[in-house]
Amino acid sequence: MTTSSGSSGPSAPWGTRAETGADLPTIRGINLAAFETSFEADLVDALRGDPSWIDGLSLVATDDHDRPIAHALLTRCHIGDTPALCLAPCAVLPAQQRQGAGSAAIRAALAAAGDIGERFVTVLGHPDYYPWFGFTRASAHGIGLSIEVPDEALMALALDPDRPLPSGTIRYAAPFGI
Ligand SMILES: CC(C)(COP(=O)(O)OP(=O)(O)OC[C@H]1O[C@@H](n2cnc3c(N)ncnc32)[C@H](O)[C@@H]1OP(=O)(O)O)[C@@H](O)C(=O)NCCC(=O)NCCS
Repeated sequence: MTTSSGSSGPSAPWGTRAETGADLPTIRGINLAAFETSFEADLVDALRGDPSWIDGLSLVATDDHDRPIAHALLTRCHIGDTPALCLAPCAVLPAQQRQGAGSAAIRAALAAAGDIGERFVTVLGHPDYYPWFGFTRASAHGIGLSIEVPDEALMALALDPDRPLPSGTIRYAAPFGI
């Protein structure tokens, strides 16, 4: 399915869809290009073989030729004992950054998660970016991590506003190494 990007933040007419098998080398290339090391690209590949992987929650934003240029991944984590999703990594080809492609992929990932009944999402990242998608500071909900991170960088989102976030320590999938 192709959707447009969201209604706030920068936007462009990027298509979005779940990854297919044919996209895997391109997705690895996006993560290699967007980050300084191969950690995130290797992480995505490791998560693909991990029980935390959920089919349909690796989303891409595509160009006019249906080529992925942005990637957003949600995998299983837990907040305490409550199942939740971890948004990581998010990556856009450098030449296409700041044109709404990252936002489009993230919104598509969150929508896909909501469609399959997922309730909670956590993210560790740019504190001025993820609030666009409704994320708020995790510590305000009693959500923490077992390692020290800047308080404002750890954020959480309830996909269903009627289901408030649980509190607890986030437990990541093993490939994250946290
Ligand atoms: C972060 C990233 C996924 C955002 O995707 P994008 O398509 O470039 O971003 P969008 O066009 O949707 O939104 C642009 C906004 O993202 C935010 N943003 C982008 N890069 C940022 C950065 N390095 N630090 C902080 N905020 C950033 C800014 O708020 C920016 O708005 P501005 O251009 O008005 O300043 C992308 O820039 C990227 O791949 N960066 C390198 C890898 C990375 O840092 N991934 C995220 C790890 S938390």
